[in-house]
Order: sequence, then structure tokens, then C-alpha cells
Amino acid sequence: MSSVVLRRFVSTCRPTLAIYHGRNFTTSAPFLIETNNINTSNTNTETVSSDAPRTVTLIPGDGIGPEISKSVQQIFQAANVTINWEPVDVTPVKSPDGKFRIPLKAIESVTKNRIGLKGPLATPVGKGHQSLNLALRKQFNLFANVRPCKTLEGYQTPFTNVDLVTVRENTEGEYSGIEHTIVPGVVQSIKLITQHASLRVCEYAFLYAKQHKREKVTVVHKANIMRLSDGLFLRSAREVAEKYPEIKFEEMYLDTVCLKMVQDPTQFDCLVMPNLYGDILSDLCAGLIGGLGLTPSGNIGEGGAAIFEAVHGTAPDIAGQDKANPTALLLSSVMMLRHLHMFDKANLIEKACFDTIKDGKMLTGDLGGKAKCSEYTAEICQRIKDSS
Ligand SMILES: NC(=O)c1ccc[n+]([C@@H]2O[C@H](COP(=O)([O-])OP(=O)(O)OC[C@H]3O[C@@H](n4cnc5c(N)ncnc54)[C@H](O)[C@@H]3O)[C@@H](O)[C@H]2O)c1
Repeated sequence: MSSVVLRRFVSTCRPTLAIYHGRNFTTSAPFLIETNNINTSNTNTETVSSDAPRTVTLIPGDGIGPEISKSVQQIFQAANVTINWEPVDVTPVKSPDGKFRIPLKAIESVTKNRIGLKGPLATPVGKGHQSLNLALRKQFNLFANVRPCKTLEGYQTPFTNVDLVTVRENTEGEYSGIEHTIVPGVVQSIKLITQHASLRVCEYAFLYAKQHKREKVTVVHKANIMRLSDGLFLRSAREVAEKYPEIKFEEMYLDTVCLKMVQDPTQFDCLVMPNLYGDILSDLCAGLIGGLGLTPSGNIGEGGAAIFEAVHGTAPDIAGQDKANPTALLLSSVMMLRHLHMFDKANLIEKACFDTIKDGKMLTGDLGGKAKCSEYTAEICQRIKDSS
């Protein structure tokens, strides 16, 4: 690294690294965002259902975002969910320093509500403003991306009983955004791994596994090649694992995980990994259960802030045509309801959605059906009304 680049890198990192030296982060207990392994009918205060009204920041997003957000709002209305939506626009605005940033109003809304539901956002490739998804993660310290991946009954895929969850470090690694042109034709991108963020996400993964009665955590790494960076992540995972003797701990290279995952995904339970590996592996897992249109996710922050989002993009090829599948955003909103302890409404909506898919008569194009987004939404609303 040239001395100029090194100086620039150190000056970029110094303020952040200073806080990393302390290890007093507050990893709040994971939220009950899956139903398969938890009992929501017992008297434990952690699992008592609540109907207390909440305000949720809604970021409809770009492309198909507004269509699928409208679908979720209609379904919530049919289920009488006591959520007040606070829609915000995150189209970047130019700040005095000339850089494009998230509008202040959107930041204030999430800061106040501590909870958000987000549609997909378009990111220009190699130019323009930085990824707004990255900016939101950094702004609210959304350190863990959680994606449960479970086979949907009635929707045929090569494997019939996938049930795993990926926990991806969300704030650093290859996505730290520290890139330089050293000389024309030579660029450098820095993979930043810190002990603080590694311990934090591993702690979350183990707590999550414990709370959702999952039996095994697999740490995914390439510490044989990236000895320092992945080595630190791996050591952090080992350190946390020692505190959870009741949970089986497994270490596996990323390439081995990919191979085994497509051979037999049922051998995996909960997986934790650095940022880039999580980005790729979680999409691979989504493919195992039917694709991005079905896969929900939650971004969990320190201090309890959380933003739930569909994992797919803006689907510009079908935007505005009433063809989008709203399931991924709907199931993300179901995760959000569980995070808010609105278990009864979460179960009601999830069942109506799963039953619609199982029935197979009203499926969107990506699932091999002919239904429009609005027709699929109306079917779920009708099932909710019939069962209430
Ligand atoms: N979390 C996010 O906000 C996020 C994630 C990925 C991509 N993006 C952005 O989205 C834009 C488009 O990206 P892309 O084309 O690579 O991926 P994409 O996910 O938008 O589309 C890939 C394919 O999947 C289909 N698809 C995606 N979601 C669907 C849905 N809900 N229902 C039916 N079909 C669906 C699309 O029609 C397309 O054929 C880019 O600007 C990218 O940066 C945003």
C-alpha cells in the first residue's frame, strides 16, 4: 500500500477503530422471528402476543417496491393489524459537501420509530450515489442480516425440507466501502474485519440459535487464505461458542459449504459469516426454496432498531405491470410483527400466505402462475377475512 493510501486509510478508520477497542456493545436478545421452533402460547413474557399500536417507518423503494408495499399494507388492513405506517422517501439529496445522502426526514423517522419495513432500492453501478442499502445499514448500525430459509409447503423445489437461517455480518468486511485508485489501472479495495463486529454478530447468531431452539451454528470462513481477517472472525466465533456448550459448533470453509449446501441443505441449521460470503450464500439458500421472491430478511441493529426487507431487487423488467410477487416483503413484515411481539397477527397473515401458495391456484408469474400481484393480494386478504 502506498504511504498516501495508507495515511488516507488510517485517517478514515481512526474514529471508528477507537470505539471498537471497547467491547461493551449491547447485543440485544434476538427477536422471535420464526415460528417453526418457538412456542407462542406459553406465559413467558418474551412470547406473549401484543396488540399495542406501533408506528413503523415504511420505505416503499423503487421499481416494484411501491406495488409490493401497497400489497403488504392491504393485507395488514384486512388482518386489522394495529400498525400506523409512516412512509418516507429515501431518494438521495445533495448535501452541502456535494455528496448525495439519505434525506434527514427518513433518518429521523427510523430514529424515532426504531422499526422499518423497506422495499428494494436501485443502486447505480460504479457511479452516482453510494448504495442506499449500505448507507442505511451504517446509519442505524444494522449489524446482522438474518434470513430464515424454509421450504414452503406446496411449492415444488429439488429439496423438500430446507430449514436453515443465515446470519450475515452487515457492516464491514468487503463492503466497508474503502476503495482507492493507486495509479491508473490499479485499484485497491480493503476488507475490514474487526474483533468488535465479529464478536457482536457471532454472539447474535448463538443467541438466535438458542432462542429459536436451533441445535448447531456453522461459522463460514476462508481463514486458510485470509489468515488475518477471516482468522479474526473465526477466533471470535470460537470464543463465543465456548459460552454456548449446549449448541453444536462447526467450522467450515466457504467453498465446502457451497458444495454441501447444494448436495444436502438439511445438514445445516444456523450459519454465521462475514459480509460478502453472507450476501452470496444467502441468495444461494433463497434459490433452494424457490427464489428471491419468497425469501424474507431482517436487519438487526444495536440498541433494538431493525429494518425488515425483501432480499430481491427492484425488478425493473416487471415494474409497474402488476406482475410482482409480494411474498418476500410480506414474509419480512411477518418477521417484523414477531419482532414487535404481534405473534397472533403474524401467524394469521403467514398462514393465509402459505395456504394461498399451497393451494396453487393464485400464483404470480415467478412461481409459474398467471395471477397479478393485486389478485394474489386479494386472495390472501380473503383468506384472512374468512378465518377471522
Ligand atoms: N435490497 C435491495 O434493495 C436490493 C437487492 C438487490 C438488488 N437491488 C437493486 O435492484 C436493481 C435490479 O437488480 P437485479 O435486476 O440484479 O435483481 P432483481 O432482484 O431486481 O431481479 C432479478 C430477477 O428476479 C425477478 N424478481 C425479483 N423480485 C421479484 C418479485 N418480487 N416478483 C417477481 N419477480 C421478481 C426480476 O423480475 C428479475 O427477472 C439494481 O439497481 C440493484 O442494485 C436492490
